[in-house]
This record gives sequence, C-alpha cells and structure tokens, in this order.
Amino acid sequence: MSYYKIENLEQYFKHYNKSIREPRKFWGKIAEENFTWYQQWEKVVDFNMAEAEVKWFTEAKVNITKNCIDRHLSKRGEKTAIIFEPNNPSESALHISYNELYERVSKMANVLREQGVGKGDRVCIYLPMIPELAVSVLACARIGAIHSVIFAGFSASAVSARINDSECKMVITSDGGYRGNKTIDLKGIVDEALESCSSVSKVLVVKRTETEIKMQEGRDFWLQPLLDAALDYNVAEIMDAEDPLFILYTSGSTGKPKGMVHTTAGYMVYTAYTFKNVFSHEENDIFWCTADIGWITGHSYILYGPLLNGGTTVIFEGVPSYPDFSRFWDIIEKHKITQFYTAPTAIRSLAKESLDYIQKYPLKSLKVIGSVGEPINEEAWHWFNDHVGDKRCPVVDTWWQTETGGIMISPIAFVTPTKPTYATLPLPGIQPVLMDEKRNEIEGNQVVGSLCIKFPWPGIARTIWGDHERYKKTYFSAFPGKYFTGDGALRDEVGYYRITGRVDDVVIVSGHNLGTAPIEDAINEHPAVAESAIVGFPHEIKGNALYGYVILKETGEVRNKENLAKEINQYIADHIGPIAKLDKIQFVSGLPKTRSGKIMRRILRKIAEGDFSNFGDTSTLLNPEVVEGIMNERIS
Ligand code: WTA
Repeated sequence: MSYYKIENLEQYFKHYNKSIREPRKFWGKIAEENFTWYQQWEKVVDFNMAEAEVKWFTEAKVNITKNCIDRHLSKRGEKTAIIFEPNNPSESALHISYNELYERVSKMANVLREQGVGKGDRVCIYLPMIPELAVSVLACARIGAIHSVIFAGFSASAVSARINDSECKMVITSDGGYRGNKTIDLKGIVDEALESCSSVSKVLVVKRTETEIKMQEGRDFWLQPLLDAALDYNVAEIMDAEDPLFILYTSGSTGKPKGMVHTTAGYMVYTAYTFKNVFSHEENDIFWCTADIGWITGHSYILYGPLLNGGTTVIFEGVPSYPDFSRFWDIIEKHKITQFYTAPTAIRSLAKESLDYIQKYPLKSLKVIGSVGEPINEEAWHWFNDHVGDKRCPVVDTWWQTETGGIMISPIAFVTPTKPTYATLPLPGIQPVLMDEKRNEIEGNQVVGSLCIKFPWPGIARTIWGDHERYKKTYFSAFPGKYFTGDGALRDEVGYYRITGRVDDVVIVSGHNLGTAPIEDAINEHPAVAESAIVGFPHEIKGNALYGYVILKETGEVRNKENLAKEINQYIADHIGPIAKLDKIQFVSGLPKTRSGKIMRRILRKIAEGDFSNFGDTSTLLNPEVVEGIMNERIS
C-alpha cells in the first residue's frame, strides 16, 4: 500500500491514523517510494522537543535537484517545467522544459563553483520573478550552497542586515526589475546594502531591464557571459539529509529578523507530499502560485513542490493590476491553469473591482483554487468560490508558516469537505493541539486556544541561523515539549480548525508578516522621535494595516505633523521596505505602560480599532490618564 496519494475521506482518516500511530513507517514508506537517494537513512526521525532538536532521515544522502530535475528527464524531458509569464503581456511567455531546466541549472551551478562558491556557503539571491531566480535557487541546491532569497521589495538596510546575519559570500541580482509600470533599481539597492557587508566578494548580475548601472571592478560580473562559457552538465553534490538547504528570513517579535533554516531531505519529502495531495496534482496540470519566490510559499509551491512532482509551474513577474485588473484571469485563460493558489489580500483587492474584469473569462481549466498567508474572511472566501472557482472548484484554505516548510492544516482537494474560513483538518503527520493560558491542552471540540503542534513533521525548520537558543525560546518554551505557532485557533464541533490570527506582536499586512518591533526600531531612529508603539488594526483590503503611536522629543521646536508623519514613513521604507509603512500615525504625549514598563499594546490595539470599551484588566496600568488623551485624538 502506498501512502503518497489520498483518494477519499475514508483513506484520509486511514492515512492520518497511520501517520500518528506509526510516523516512522508512514514517512519512511513515502520517502522510499517517491524519491531517489544516494544512501538510505538510519532513522526516519530522531528528536528531542525540549531541546528543539529534530532530525529526519538521519544519515541519508540525497540531492534535492536530482529529485526536482534529473529523475524526470527520461520520462518528461520535453515536458514544460516552468512557464515564465512576463510583467508586460506583450512580451511572449517562455516555456522551459525539464531538459532545458537541467541545462540552465547545470550551467549556473558550474558558474557558481567557478566563482568560488562551495557546499555550505551562503548565497544571497535578490532577484525579480524571472526564470534566473528559479535557476539560481536550484543551482545553489545543486552544489550544496545555502540559498538565502531576499524578497526584491526589501530596502538596502534590510538586505544588508540579512546578508550580514548569514555572512553570504555572493549576491545574485539583476540590473532592475519590472513591476507593473514601475522599474525597480535592484542593483542600486544591492550596491547600497553592500557598503556595510564585508562577507560578500562577488555579485552576479542578470540583465533584465537594461537599466544603466554601476559595475564594481573585480566584484560585479554580468551573468550571461559566464553562463555562455559554462558546461551544460553538472554532477550534483551529495548532501546529507540534514544539511541546510536554505535560509529564509521572517519577522519576529524583536528587531532582528529570524533566519529560519530548512534542511534537505525532510523539506523535500514534506513539500512534495503536501503539494501532491492538497492540490490533487496530476500529470498534465499547470499549477500557478501567485506568491513571490522571496517568501516561503514561493519556495515550497512555486519551485520545490511542483518540480519534485514533475509538474509544470508558473512564474509570474508582474502584479494583478497591470495592465488592468483582469491580468490574473487573463493568465489563467492563456496558460490553461488548473490550480490557482493566491492570497486573501489579492482576492480582496480584486473583489472590489468591477466584476466585468473576471466575467469575460470562463476559467474552465481551473480544478482547484487555494488561499494562503492570513485568515480568509467570509466575504473573500465566497467571492473566490463564486467568481473564480465557479462553485465547482474546491477552495483549499491552507494554513502554514515559514517555519513549517509546507502546508499543515488544509482541506485536501476533492477529499475534505470545505467550510468557508476554515482551514479544516490537519494533514497526515500533523498533530495540532489547542492550549489554554495555564499551558494545558484543551480537549474536545468547540474550543479556542493557542495553536501548538505536538510531534515533529519532516518540514519543520531546524533552527534559526546562528541562534539556536532563540529558536528554542521562540517556538519551544511557551508550551514546553510542543512547537508553538504564534497563532490562535478554534476547533469547531466536528474538529475543523479555523485560524483566528496571531497572538504575538506580528501583524500580517497584505499577507506579509511584519514584526512591530523592527518598525518601532526604525521609527525611533528618526531624530524627532522619543518613543513609539505600533499595532495592527483591521483593514478592508490588506487584512490588517498599521497604526503608529509616536511620542516626539521635547525640544520646544514646533514641527509640522503632516511632514513629520511623511518622514517617519520614509524612515520605515528605507529601513524595512514600503510594505511596512504606517496607515495612521498619531502623535501622543505618553503610552500606556505597566508598572514594569511594558507598553500595554492591548489597549492601543483597541483604540486603533475604535473600540473604547472593554480594555480588560488595567489594574497594572501605571499612567491611566494618558489613555483618555489617546482616545480623544484617535485618527479615524
Ligand atoms: C498566517 C506563509 C490563517 C498565520 C505560508 C501564520 C494564515 C502566518 C493562513 C505565517 C491561513 C498563513 N489562515 N492564517 N490559511 N496561512 N497564515 O511565515 O498567522 O509568511 O502564522 O507563511 O500567516 O506566515 P508566513
């Protein structure tokens, strides 16, 4: 009996129970039957949750790109692996076959090796959504270099912080990137970032926009001539199952981003398995995930998941609003997309436009539609279901995180009955539990609590780069022995899960996780600012938006508040990126604090929401008088 594909609900329960009772047998069989290995494992899993130590497929030897590319060549050499849809619809789309992908990745891998990159070295990839991004990622994996993709919307200082944290040796970037009718100066941002990065000795530059850029002698090289001179085959590096595959940064509740480390074999098995089942992937499908490869969703479900299954995956360079709001629907029609995977924020922003944009397109090729990144509200769920899925395609609301590597709680298309706004049931191997404030597991149904996972799964991140203590503290200490997700959830009467949102200081704005601490750090660097506090508040399109309370230094100087607010937002854009800008900035004379000096964010959140009732327990509040003042001057 094979466990790789779940065909119906009965089988789901069977597989699920097997995966809980005998996780080693379950994952061992999946790993054995569906991947190629240089050497088998000794233990399927080895772990100590208290120490945050997890290992899968110990001692096994493997290369993920052999599984993504080489093993498909005999059967699927001419099959399209990647469809590249450019920003500008009048530029033609590109179809890259598995044979071509092999050649391109081999050449790139050879270039990296020639440029002195080897196993274990970190390579920063700062590219727009173009084929070279996929090729660079895979080439790193091919030679055992650890890729650290940075979303091409991050600012120079965010880029340098990430490069320095992981001490990257090389940066791969481009002369520029297209996004709608804008051109982004990526190389200029890299140049600025590298002023404070001593680890980087080489920069490879892809030509995309033909923008005039500066090339630093001895450091910067155009990629194309190097590729032209490289051999088109490459012997993959033999990797240990637990060798790091990549680092991907995510926001935390302190100013420093967390470099989540994913390792090779477990991540490979988990992304392949979850992709296959959640989206019910079949041989001739054309899968499109609209995320950027700079986020985990892009890593797992634009690249690794689809390629591991020999699928066809779409890389879209542009934005949903360019040239107009029908772009997504146009692409679905043009490439006959079968699975469409996007985010609630995109759905909400398209739902507010005229229905004419979508109704021109029959969208008959679609079989499954999916959502990820934040809770999907009822209205958006129905719009997605009615207008995109035509009430015919299962909506898979997939809950997971950068840290989990792959989808954790989600309907399985054509298997799990869906329920609007519910991520429904855990995938096989996943043991969610809800915890109460006293750290006890909440039994039974129709309950709410903090969402934890009580047994390791193959895709779990293994550590935070260079800081295992922080990893342990962040994820394994709130509820000892369990992985704490940072999310709250409810379990309904039949055991379906609905994720209610973050319970920590991370706010999800348009699907991007933003820690409030790093934004406060950025604002506090402004010379006029004494202190600040950022909270999220509900926003119709973005899901959440940011509200900042700012105390100015008392200098006696009178400043124009409007200009100051603009400057503050510019500081944020420069330090983090435009995605972290505040929607509302209120200048206040004080912040509500506890006697121990902690800002009472709960109150600030309520005020930002416009809810002046029910501040909860305020007995520890040191300065209740400031609350009144803040309420009176709230920005609505
Ligand atoms: C949130 C994205 C509700 C959640 C893959 C999680 C969701 C965080 C869902 C991780 C969903 C993601 N329903 N909330 N279907 N999917 N989230 O690391 O708060 O960018 O903890 O990973 O997004 O975001 P990340």
